[in-house]
Amino acid sequence: MSNILIGITGGIAAYKIPQLCRHFLLNGHNVKVIMTENAAKFISPLTFESLTGNRVYTDDFEIYIEPENIKHISLSEWADIFIIAPASANTIGKMANGIADNLLTSSILAYDSAKPIVVAPAMNSKMYKNKIFQRNLEVLKENGFHIIEPITGILACKDEGVGKMVEPEDIYLYCKQFLKKSDMLKGKRVLVTAGPTIEHIDPVRFISNRSSGKMGFAIAESAFENGANVTLISGPTLLKTFVHKKEVSSADEMYWEVMNRINDIDILIMAAAVADYKVENYSEEKIKKSSENLTLKLVKNKDILKEASKFKRDNQIFVGFAAESHNVEKNAINKMKEKKLDLIVANDISRKDIGFDSNDNEVNIYFNSGDKIKIDKMDKKKVADKIIKIISDLIIR
Ligand SMILES: Cc1cc2nc3c(=O)[nH]c(=O)nc-3n(C[C@H](O)[C@H](O)[C@H](O)COP(=O)(O)O)c2cc1C
Repeated sequence: MSNILIGITGGIAAYKIPQLCRHFLLNGHNVKVIMTENAAKFISPLTFESLTGNRVYTDDFEIYIEPENIKHISLSEWADIFIIAPASANTIGKMANGIADNLLTSSILAYDSAKPIVVAPAMNSKMYKNKIFQRNLEVLKENGFHIIEPITGILACKDEGVGKMVEPEDIYLYCKQFLKKSDMLKGKRVLVTAGPTIEHIDPVRFISNRSSGKMGFAIAESAFENGANVTLISGPTLLKTFVHKKEVSSADEMYWEVMNRINDIDILIMAAAVADYKVENYSEEKIKKSSENLTLKLVKNKDILKEASKFKRDNQIFVGFAAESHNVEKNAINKMKEKKLDLIVANDISRKDIGFDSNDNEVNIYFNSGDKIKIDKMDKKKVADKIIKIISDLIIR
């Protein structure tokens, strides 16, 4: 788990930072906080001490109280990721000019530039648009700082404009790209599909399914965290992610996105719930309710995995998912053989506590070698981590 150092400066958005701390803490990371003197006027250090279980650092001259530990250096060394949020115009100005007149700016200057430093500015839009501020921000970008640009909205001063800090969840999601767990899949190109597809009937109606995309997104993120170069092709979902994502709508669109990449990948993981059928004749105009009955003729969609497996090289690994409501094992094994997969992940969708839209899953993994592994019910992210470990073990074998 990573060490996260959060630097808070004097802006209204400081009140959102406890939520940011919680995102990291709930995911098992260690969090320490440095506050500028002005930040402590907006929110009490006690809030962060209670949340993180660590002392909050506010003053450079505390080094005289604890001389054995020179804070501006030791905190910088401790951190795997340094986040400055909210980053005031004042502190950004100091950062851009190498000024180190408090514990936060000294720690920033002492921080190893090879490690990620993430800056989330927040301020009034007039301050944000100021040319001198923009020049300072440009200096940070040129020097490898990761800037999460503020968004447009109603600001604390009641003005509407650009300058609002992004939500804590978005800062957390952004930082997840730096929370690498291992290099298990380093150099491997992984293509993951996720979510449902949508088959349009007319401009307002469509056929889809209950897939939330959670399992596929978790797998894509786990592959990334373990060093892979990941592309996620996703049908419509409400999920956010830090991995490179290409959004599609229909099964046909997903088919083309997969087939266009099939030669350039090492691992294909098809976790999407792709519609088996589409409407034969899409109506350009909204269908009117003129008669008692309406018959839609459905035709089969292309079977993406089956088509992709025709081009499969021996050094590629293809993984399928089988969401089954009955004869789970038999159907999954048949699907694996028919589509020449290396392994298939099967789950029983007749159970209400796992699978579609649930945060948990329980799966059985069948291998083309005849082996079988059961993953007990747990959070989908943990299931994803186990699946990724199993896939990387296959590569090593
Ligand atoms: C009520 C209030 C709200 C403020 N909000 C912001 C802000 O959102 N962004 C900003 O850059 N400065 C803001 N300021 C100004 C900063 O607090 C000021 O520039 C201060 O010197 C920043 O100190 P620091 O960078 O050491 O934390 C605000 C000031 C006040 C009094």
